Amino acid sequence: MNRHSRLRAGAGAATAVLCLLAAGCSGSGSGAGVHGTPGAAGLRDPYFPKLGNGGYDVSHYALTLAYDPASGRLDGRAEITAKATQDLSAFNLDLAGLTVRGATVDGAPAAVNRAGNELTLRPRDDIDEGAEFRAVVTYDGLPQTITDSDGSKEGWLKTADGALALGEPTGSMAWFPGNHHPSDKASYDITVTVPAGVRAVSNGVLGSEKKGPDGRTTSVWHSAEPMASYLAMLAIGRYDTTTATALGGKVPVLTAADPAVAAKSAALRARIPEILDWEQENFGTYPFAASGAVVERDDDVGYALETQTRPVFPASSFDTPTLVHELAHQWYGDSVSPATWKDIWLNEGFATYAEWLYAEDFAHTPAQKSFEKAFADDDAWAFPPAAPRSSEDLFAAPVYQRGAMVLHRIRQEVGDDTFFEILEGWPARYRHATATTKDFTAYVESVADGRDLSEVWDVWLYGEEKPDKAPTG
Ligand code: ARG
Ligand code: ZN
Repeated sequence: MNRHSRLRAGAGAATAVLCLLAAGCSGSGSGAGVHGTPGAAGLRDPYFPKLGNGGYDVSHYALTLAYDPASGRLDGRAEITAKATQDLSAFNLDLAGLTVRGATVDGAPAAVNRAGNELTLRPRDDIDEGAEFRAVVTYDGLPQTITDSDGSKEGWLKTADGALALGEPTGSMAWFPGNHHPSDKASYDITVTVPAGVRAVSNGVLGSEKKGPDGRTTSVWHSAEPMASYLAMLAIGRYDTTTATALGGKVPVLTAADPAVAAKSAALRARIPEILDWEQENFGTYPFAASGAVVERDDDVGYALETQTRPVFPASSFDTPTLVHELAHQWYGDSVSPATWKDIWLNEGFATYAEWLYAEDFAHTPAQKSFEKAFADDDAWAFPPAAPRSSEDLFAAPVYQRGAMVLHRIRQEVGDDTFFEILEGWPARYRHATATTKDFTAYVESVADGRDLSEVWDVWLYGEEKPDKAPTG
């Protein structure tokens, strides 16, 4: 008996005593407590209030998937290991589309209900606060493409020869049930079976890739470090792959390119180790056990995404600045993740600033020049980076350009030594965790020895008004 079931037996006994005293109690000997309440159906994110769920914390997802490109059908089994953060009578998972075939909690069948993107599991026995539990959901169907309010497509994207699963900000619910808010990070094992002729590429370290007697190939991908679900990725199709190592031989690099864009992306794919060396020099220890990239045809995906360890690119944006940007996100966004979607500028501001720094080091363009150019663009002033007006704004110019301007203003105020200490210290302080904008400003103030940065926050981070001119330092 583990600690969990012992706790549960204790709760059941307490219930039985109460039943003796109360009139009309059923006296069911199942041990089902009456103490639990349902977990919240959402985490009240400012832009997606229903995203994520309350009452538990996921520590691990084991996804076992099979996909058939010909029919477009996905068969899935999600095993979710979580810890209850309250006494739970039921809890929700986010899932868009697909058909749920069954669910268990700790091996016992659970009642399933669906309403919109909320999947509710009611376990046979209540779960005690602090108890670890395992939920298994089996499901299948034709996964959906989700169109974001800014018009971008995410979730499940069918490609010419397979599919691509991407999830920023909310698309991961289209391919597996989970707690799909960035604040609940977990480790992942993703096992995927695909027909002969195609391969499956996902996040992290490739554990094994084996052909079965039926000709299908099963590959197993491990992400040991915590990952926000929006950074989970699955690419199925024909790929030309390369392997290498980076960072002193410690980090395996696996790249995959659609054959149509393999040749033209090969030279830049080969430069990932060199860019990681430069980034590690500037941002501190690389936070993950693997790296790489997936390069698709432009028809297959409309934007690049910093999926954990292995970002995805459409061929036409697979260029040096974008590669620098998506690899920088591994520190800023993937390791330190936004606590809510309102904190997205912490991702995009840093990744954009990484491009400015790279241009400073390798293209004779001082960051001051990039700052002045961004400053001059009125699109960057539509709203403050720390306050997107709606979900449509999450990936708009102010988040990227003004986000980077905030960092440059900090650099101007604190000087290069302290600034580079911040670049490295911030992802070290919140490594594999989540952080808010307030965490960031408090952190910067803590290392800026008493300097008054209120103008940077008031004007550049939170202010509506564009200043008359760009400060020169
Ligand atoms: N985070 C991506 C980047 O590196 C952009 C994602 C765009 N997604 C969207 N739904 N608009 O810039
Ligand atoms: Zn980005």
